[in-house]
Order: sequence, then structure tokens, then C-alpha cells
Amino acid sequence: MGYKILCFGIFCVLFAYYIYTPIPENIEERWKVRMIDAVVKTTSLVATLFEETGLMKYEDTFLTLSVHLSKPVSDENVTVIDTDFSDVPVRLYLPEKKSEILRPAIIYLHGGAFVLGSCKMQSYDDLNRWTANKLDAVVVGIDYRLAPQYPFPAALEDCVLVVKFLLQDKILEKYGIDPARICISGDSAGATLAAAATQLLQNHPEYKDKIKAQALIYPGLQFIDIAMPSHQDNEQGPIMSMEMGVKFLTLYLNGNSSLKKAMLRNEHMPEGSRHLFKFVNWSDFLPDKYKKNHIYTEPVLGKLKASYPALLDSRLSPLLASDSQLQSLPLTYILTCEHDIVRDDGFIYVARLRNVGVQVTHDHIEDGVHGAITLTTLPYNLQLALRIRDKYINWLEKNL
Ligand SMILES: *[C@@H]1O[C@H](CO)[C@@H](O)[C@H](O)[C@H]1NC(C)=O
Ligand SMILES: *[C@@H]1O[C@H](CO)[C@@H](O)[C@H](O)[C@H]1NC(C)=O
Ligand SMILES: *[C@@H]1O[C@H](CO)[C@@H](O)[C@H](O)[C@H]1NC(C)=O
Repeated sequence: MGYKILCFGIFCVLFAYYIYTPIPENIEERWKVRMIDAVVKTTSLVATLFEETGLMKYEDTFLTLSVHLSKPVSDENVTVIDTDFSDVPVRLYLPEKKSEILRPAIIYLHGGAFVLGSCKMQSYDDLNRWTANKLDAVVVGIDYRLAPQYPFPAALEDCVLVVKFLLQDKILEKYGIDPARICISGDSAGATLAAAATQLLQNHPEYKDKIKAQALIYPGLQFIDIAMPSHQDNEQGPIMSMEMGVKFLTLYLNGNSSLKKAMLRNEHMPEGSRHLFKFVNWSDFLPDKYKKNHIYTEPVLGKLKASYPALLDSRLSPLLASDSQLQSLPLTYILTCEHDIVRDDGFIYVARLRNVGVQVTHDHIEDGVHGAITLTTLPYNLQLALRIRDKYINWLEKNL
């Protein structure tokens, strides 16, 4: 009891401190965003304190405070079922209405920095139900395995397994899916996984051209240069700070505090990796507006003793794919937010895909913040969240 009161006390003090953190001027519903930002930052600091005193792992503090998961509740329009595809848990949204024609399908990968989240969170359940309803589509939410228990590339393997399972003729037939109208979508880390899964499938002879489209909502697309203008401009958030993002990435890479420190200094890449920087060189790919007064400096190589092969892997950083691998990618939707550490990743992918002739729609949200699409539900009800959702759905409606 005393311990709980103490925790609550610490939480209140930190919250009171963070609520005065300045947030960008152009943000709509500033007080809500400020509250959310303060809750996230407080949680992160409490999680760090608890981890350092050996009380609880960093990620467990987040898990204790977050998410209650929704049950699979069907309604008059959509039947909702929890099941497994190739032993990976999925939640299916199947439109009720009889249809003369085959339906499109959307595979949705939730965000949560590879460590948190579930397709059963209320916000994702709402989004996927909404998508099924609006588009008369079959939607598949995937509960891929999470770090640190299952580090890279477990999450991606699960997502690819589910897509391959769905692509079987008998499964497409069972759910009335049109094999020519399948999209892989995701937000944040889910968008990273969506981009990587799309690349893997497209470069696999058996699955080439089976995916019609990919939709990436504020994706992180590379982790080799993490001192781009967007990382620097949004170092303290809102919502997702560099410190937090890097902590979660360290967990996904099964790394320790040495890796985290090196990443925060942008000194985590090994000797011999300089040739990869041309794929993400923001000085070549960013629109001038976003270069602002930043001056390109090359990351320092070879500072980290331990080796993390994942850092060189396009399955972690889809931007490491070569132009010839990118050029066969399907129709692409990318949404970026202005106030977001991974903003420039999205801009660079847009530029690189367009350079090789891939058709890309890019929506940039000038007052957007990272993670917003999960804030559609009470108590947040963020207008920004609904705007992002509607842009994504409109694109699917026109293109899938
Ligand atoms: C079912 O669909 C109809 C027509 O689109 C809509 O008006 C209604 O709100 C939907 N019901 C639910 C529970 O979403
Ligand atoms: C990045 O681009 C700048 C400007 O085009 C160039 O001077 C620099 O050498 C490039 N760096 C790397 C590592 O490719
Ligand atoms: C992190 O791990 C590497 C080996 O994987 C080790 O060499 C290094 O000492 C560790 N650092 C810390 C702070 O534990």
C-alpha cells in the first residue's frame, strides 16, 4: 500500500513537471496533446527509475499502465474472430453483408515500438472495424511477437507467415478475398514491418506481385543514421522522444546500455558500413524545407565493440534496399507527421521510391505528432487522429 502511494506521488510530481514542457505552436487541441505527452514522458521516466533500481523492467512499467485489450465483438456489419494463421494470433474482421464480388483485404500491423501494443487494443480494434466497414474489406490484425522476449526478426517473421498463409488459394476463397486487391498497412513500428514484409514478398519469386499496395503511417524506415534533422528537431518529442525510441529499439535488437548510448550519439554503426549511408543520405533526399539550418555530418563508425548484424539488414531498415530492389515495389501510401523523429525516414522513402518509378501518394501532416492514430478513442478523441485515419481510408478507397 505504502509503495503504491509512493509511486503515485512520484508520478504526480513528474507529471506536474512535464505538463509545462513546451509543445509546437501549430498543434490542434494543444491541451490534450500536452496531457498525453506528459503521461508518456512521466511513464518513461518512472520506468527508467524502476529499471535502474531493479524494481521492474522498463517495458513492464509501460505494460502495467497501459492497455486493456478488447474482446472480439461482432456487430451488425462485421463479424470479428480471434484465430491463428500459421500459429500466429490474428483478429479477423469479416463484413456481414452478402457480396456479389470478391472483397479487398487489408493486413494491418499495429505500432508500439516493437515492444508494446496489440491488434486487440481498443484503438486498433476500432480502426480495423472501421476499415472493414468503410471499404467492405476483410481486415486481418496481427499479434506478432514482441521484444524483448522475441527480438528482431521475430515480429517480421510472424507478419510474413501470416501474409503467406492468407495468400493461399483455399484461404482467399474461404474469405471471399480478391487476390488482386491485397494491401499491407501499418503505423509506426507496424509500418516498418509492413515496408519490410512488402519488400521480402516482392523479392520472393513465389510471391512477386501478389501484394497490390502498401500503406505506411509514420514509418521508421532506417536506424543507421539517427541524427537526421527530424531526430534533432524532435529530440524531446512530443510523445516519442529520442531517448524512448532508442530504448525500445535497443530492446528489439537485444542490446544493452552500451548500444543505447552509442545510438544516442549516432555512433553505433560498425567499421565498413559507410557504403550504406548513400541510401539514407538526407542531404541528397530531403526537400530543402526540411534541411533547415542542419549541416550534414557523417555518422562516426566503429565506436561500438559489440556487433549487431541487424543494423546492416534491410529487414530492420527497409531504406537499405538497393534501387533495383525498390523499383518493383507496389503502389505506396506514406503518411508523415511534422513533429516526429521518424519524419525524414518517410520523406526519404518517398524520394527514393519515386526516383525508381514507384507510384507513391504522400500525405504530410503539418501539425501531426507520432502515434496519433491510436488516439481516436476516449479519453483522447483527438481530431488529428480522425484526420489521419480518414486520409488513410480515403487512399485505400481510391486505390485498393
Ligand atoms: C453498420 O453500417 C451502417 C451503414 O454503413 C452504419 O450506419 C452503422 O452505424 C454500422 N453499425 C455499426 C455498429 O458500426
Ligand atoms: C552525403 O551527401 C553529401 C552531399 O551530397 C555528400 O557530400 C556526402 O559525401 C554524402 N555522405 C555519404 C556518407 O554518402
Ligand atoms: C554490452 O554487450 C557487449 C557484448 O554484447 C559487451 O561487450 C559490453 O561490455 C556490454 N556493455 C554493458 C554496459 O553491459
